[in-house]
Amino acid sequence: MVALDIAQLVRSGQVEESRAERVQWLWNEIRRLKHDKHAFLPAHNYQVPEVQAIADTVGDSFELAVRARDVKARLVVFCGVRFMAEGCYTLAPDVPVYLPSQQALCSLAEMDADDLEERQEFLRSLGRKFATMTYVNTYASVKALSDVCCTSSNAVKIADRLGVPDLLFVPDQNLAYQVALQTRRMYLPPPEPHQFHPREYLARIEPLLREGERAGMVGNLFAWEGACHVHHQMTLADIAHIRQEDPEAVVIVHGEVKPELQQAADEVMSTSQMAKYVESHPEKKRLAILTECGLVVRLELEHPDRQFYKPCRLCEHMKAITLESVYETLRDEPAHCLVTVPEAVRQRAAAAMLRMIDLGA
Ligand code: 13P
Ligand code: SF4
Repeated sequence: MVALDIAQLVRSGQVEESRAERVQWLWNEIRRLKHDKHAFLPAHNYQVPEVQAIADTVGDSFELAVRARDVKARLVVFCGVRFMAEGCYTLAPDVPVYLPSQQALCSLAEMDADDLEERQEFLRSLGRKFATMTYVNTYASVKALSDVCCTSSNAVKIADRLGVPDLLFVPDQNLAYQVALQTRRMYLPPPEPHQFHPREYLARIEPLLREGERAGMVGNLFAWEGACHVHHQMTLADIAHIRQEDPEAVVIVHGEVKPELQQAADEVMSTSQMAKYVESHPEKKRLAILTECGLVVRLELEHPDRQFYKPCRLCEHMKAITLESVYETLRDEPAHCLVTVPEAVRQRAAAAMLRMIDLGA
């Protein structure tokens, strides 16, 4: 990632001129505290540029999980959302992990572990052998019930390498579609949220199970009913509009957008894969990137020679982390910002995460 300076952020409108001095002061203080306290600051690609600018590493959720496993600091201040901070603690339980905002949540992660147990029990009662593959956008209680975790950058690779034909994919129904498509598994659509009725569900999936068998698919993928409220609200019209305006523009979507958008796009990628694509394709001058705006704004700063269409959306949870809150958390180490997980749950969640790192790297 290219280093961002204050003049550049002011010029691009990312920092108001009246705040420039304050931002510079906060950067200096954060750097001093990081050094004095031997702290590590990881940041997700969706963080605002002024936070990304002082992070020790910026990445997608897989890269951040790998960095968490290898962390050597005395403390971590996590610039991302709660499941990421929890994942960091899960892999590095000896290092205190602080999350600067209690609002930094994720709509995907808000699923109930009891509901997952019920679904697993239901599939077992049908006599099906399956693996539970869980997107990292979940809390440790759900990861602990899983065979393996995955992220948008490695879900296909892990599904291929697992060696189990049937998968219960939790919780993102849209990424589930991409995995089914790429690994030649039959996509079994999820029930409506909070509407799992075993008999109705079975009646809906049975014809599809038979169809998959007839078509000689590798296996089946039972999708969960979760969705990211940020990506799920993107529409085909967003893409159609760009195609009409500029047929040459490359359209890249995140794996969390709806299946019809994945089909209409040129590429389906994780956030860091998008950044690497832009970096490694200097000939692609015009791009439309459908994901959270934080990444697109940074790419604009890093690649002033390109034109980015911005049908992006904001994630209010990612934006709950501010430079001020990062500074105060690092300075005060407030107990209410500590993220922990009960040890028995942590150990099982860690096993699923480590298997992801092993299979997905
Ligand atoms: P990435 O792993 O692609 O960074 O995605 C994380 C996320 O929260 C997407 O909404
Ligand atoms: Fe969660 Fe969506 Fe926000 Fe990512 S963009 S943190 S998946 S709510």
